Amino acid sequence: MAKPIKKIAVTGGAGQIAYNLLFRIASGEMLGFDQPIALHILELPDAMKALEGVKMELEDCAFPLLKEIKIGSDPKEIFKGVHVALLVGAKPRGPGMERGDLLNDNGKIFVEQGRALNDVADPDVKVLVVGNPCNTNCLIAMSNAPRIPRKNFHAMTRLDQNRASYQLAEKSGNPVDSVTNVLIWGNHSSTQVPDFLNAKIKGKPAVEVIKDTQWLENDFINSVQKRGAAIIAARGKSSAASAANGAIDAIKAIFTPTKPGEWFSSGVYSAGNPYGIDENLFFSFPCRSKGDGTYEVIPNVPWNDFLKGKIKLTEKELIEERELVTNKLGVEKIHG
Ligand code: NAD
Ligand code: LMR
Repeated sequence: MAKPIKKIAVTGGAGQIAYNLLFRIASGEMLGFDQPIALHILELPDAMKALEGVKMELEDCAFPLLKEIKIGSDPKEIFKGVHVALLVGAKPRGPGMERGDLLNDNGKIFVEQGRALNDVADPDVKVLVVGNPCNTNCLIAMSNAPRIPRKNFHAMTRLDQNRASYQLAEKSGNPVDSVTNVLIWGNHSSTQVPDFLNAKIKGKPAVEVIKDTQWLENDFINSVQKRGAAIIAARGKSSAASAANGAIDAIKAIFTPTKPGEWFSSGVYSAGNPYGIDENLFFSFPCRSKGDGTYEVIPNVPWNDFLKGKIKLTEKELIEERELVTNKLGVEKIHG
């Protein structure tokens, strides 16, 4: 018997990430090749004409799993009953900017969309925030959606994890699928901490395979932290195909059982976290899933002094971003 349809919302439907994302979702790559879906796509009124063109192209693919396409600019219409929401639509940064500089312009989008999800989405909707600065935007969305479990919100750090995996594979001369347990701690920003200490290559600690500590502590970390900026410098636009790929991997990770002994990175709500990180942030931690859309944060992944110092810096940055929106945009000060 055919599975019931899953409704998937994507915002920023006429943008460059969405153009690389919608077709892959519709083909079945994200939720499985036996899962019928409906796409609910949100855009600003000014971009509706372009979105109509995207809809025509989706139709012209004749995807067997794609049962319905709904487009519009009212989040309360588009988010009705959705089971998964990919919040992509937001301004991208330009050259010379940090992602946090977007908070003023983008933060308010997540107030409106958090409220709309709260009011009309499926009560167990899983939400992935891609629009930058994604960790703090995710905090804003969650804070405005008290009806939805906090554990259902994710800020995307999967692209960073994929970038780190590639760097370790290339440096060690091994295929990328021999690299496991790669992990990003903290913010999706230039303070993020790509963890080489716990990464493995062909099941062995990466630090035993790549013995070049200088490279691991400097070039590796810097290249992953600054990869987004390097792409903007090269392309004149921020990453789009790799970002869409990261979003698909991020959702797949919570709907696929995590292999024993492995983990994936996701920016998740830090309340009750086992690492002593401030309890009111979206922080990227090692996570595992049973494959039912839920996850748990894996405890006891060790830090050395080098990692600890860097993790404290990314935590500090997230606290500073939160301060900018506390008592605004629906984010309340949480005491204790
Ligand atoms: P884009 O400018 O090509 O597209 C964004 C689209 O969103 C536009 O079509 C715009 O009209 C739409 N939009 C803006 N506000 C909206 C709203 N309130 N509701 C619905 N749609 C809205 O940008 P892009 O390259 O697709 O990037 C989108 C966001 O994703 C940016 O903030 C970018 O920085 C971020 N991003 C995050 C990651 C990550 O790893 N987390 C990676 C890449 C890009
Ligand atoms: C990325 O990491 O590629 C995105 O967050 C876009 C950016 O601004 O770097």
